[in-house]
Amino acid sequence: MTLLIDNIGELLTNDGPPLIDAAVVVDGERIGWVGPSSSAPAADRRVDAGGAAALPGFVDSHAHLVFAGDRAHEFAARMAGEPYTGGGIRTTVAATRAATDHELRHAAARLVAEARRQGTTTVEIKSGYGLSVDDEARSLRIARELTEETTFLGAHVVPSGVDPAAYVALVQGPMLAACSPYAKWIDVFCERGAFDGDQAREILTAGAKAGLGLRVHANQLGPGPGVRLAVELGAASADHCTHLDDSDVDALAGSATVATLLPGAEFSTRSPYPDARRLLDAGVTVALATDCNPGSSYTSSMPFCIALAVREMRMTPAEAVHAATAGGARALRRDDIGVLRAGARADLIVLDAPSYLHLAYRPGVPLIRTVLHNGVPSDHPATALDRTEGQP
Ligand code: NIG
Ligand code: FE
Repeated sequence: MTLLIDNIGELLTNDGPPLIDAAVVVDGERIGWVGPSSSAPAADRRVDAGGAAALPGFVDSHAHLVFAGDRAHEFAARMAGEPYTGGGIRTTVAATRAATDHELRHAAARLVAEARRQGTTTVEIKSGYGLSVDDEARSLRIARELTEETTFLGAHVVPSGVDPAAYVALVQGPMLAACSPYAKWIDVFCERGAFDGDQAREILTAGAKAGLGLRVHANQLGPGPGVRLAVELGAASADHCTHLDDSDVDALAGSATVATLLPGAEFSTRSPYPDARRLLDAGVTVALATDCNPGSSYTSSMPFCIALAVREMRMTPAEAVHAATAGGARALRRDDIGVLRAGARADLIVLDAPSYLHLAYRPGVPLIRTVLHNGVPSDHPATALDRTEGQP
C-alpha cells in the first residue's frame, strides 16, 4: 500500500535544504520517495496537504514516563521561591512502588499518546522511579511495551534509608542483570546529591559490559564531571548540560556525544537556560528533548521545547527544529528517523501552518494536523484520513 502526500508547501527533510511545493510517497512503514510535487509518482492513495508545511516527526530522546502521582504542589512552591534539588524524586518513587502494573502502564501510555498528538513519533523512556530490583525491572518492562528506546536509570538517586555504596553495588549487579533484558541504554544522574563521578563511571562501565549504550544526566544543577565522563566513555548523549565550563564544551566538540538540552526543566524549575549558542558555535551536535517527568519538567510537548529554545536559548527556529528531529535521532544513534529520505521510517508530521517557523512563532498553539507513525496516520481529528482522496 503506497500513500502520496502532495501539495506540501514547505518540506523539511533534514537531508538537504527545505523543499517548496513538495511531495512524499509512503510505502508501508517506510518513505518511498521525496521530491517536487510536479514529478511525484502515482500511489494507491493520495492526500493533498493544501500547501501546509511537513517535517520529520519529533524524536524525544529523554523522558521519564513510568511513574505514579503528581508533584504540582512542589511546582507551586518553586514558583513561590523554593529551589529545585531533585529531592522530590523520592516522593515519586513511593507513589510508583505503590501503583499497580495496570496503573503504571495506563499512565505511561497516556503520556505517549499525549506526546504523539504533539508530533512525537519516537520517545525514549527511562526507569528510575522504582529503585529496587523488582520495581526497576517492572518499569522497564512497561516502557518496553511502549518504545524500543528504553533506558535503565536505577542510578537516579539513592533510595531513602539505603547505604550509598551498597546501592551502587546493587545497581551494577542484580538490578542491572534484571533490567538489561528490557533496556537498550543505561543512564546515571551524575550530580551532587545523586551519584558522583566515580560511582557513575562504575555503573556506566558495568552497563556497557552488559551490552547497553550509555547516556548521562550531566551538569544539570551545577558544574561537575558528568559531561567529561560521558565523552570519555563514548556515551551517545550528555543530557541537561546547563552548567558547562570550557573543558566540557571542548570535550563535547571533539566527540560523537550529543548535548541534549532540556529547556522544559529550566522553565519548570525557574533556572538559567543552558548556553545553546556556545555549544552550537563550538560545533557540538545539539538535541532538544522534553525530560517529561512529574518533578522538574512535566511537559510532553516538543513544540513547547522548540519555542523555549528559540526564545530563551537563542537557537534559530531551523536549529531548534533540527535539534528536535535529527538531533534526537543522533542522540539515540539512529539514522532511520529524524530524516525524510527514501528508506527512512515513515514518521512525519503535517502542520496547520505554512512553515516550520510557526512552531516557535505561534507558541502554545496546537499546530500538529497530521502525525504519521510507521506510515500509519494517528487517530486524531483532522488527520490525513479525513483528507484522503482517490488517486486522480
Ligand atoms: O531529568 N535530574 C534528574 N531527573 C529528572 C528529575 C526527576 C524528578 O524531579 O522527579 C530530570 O530533571
Ligand atoms: Fe531527566
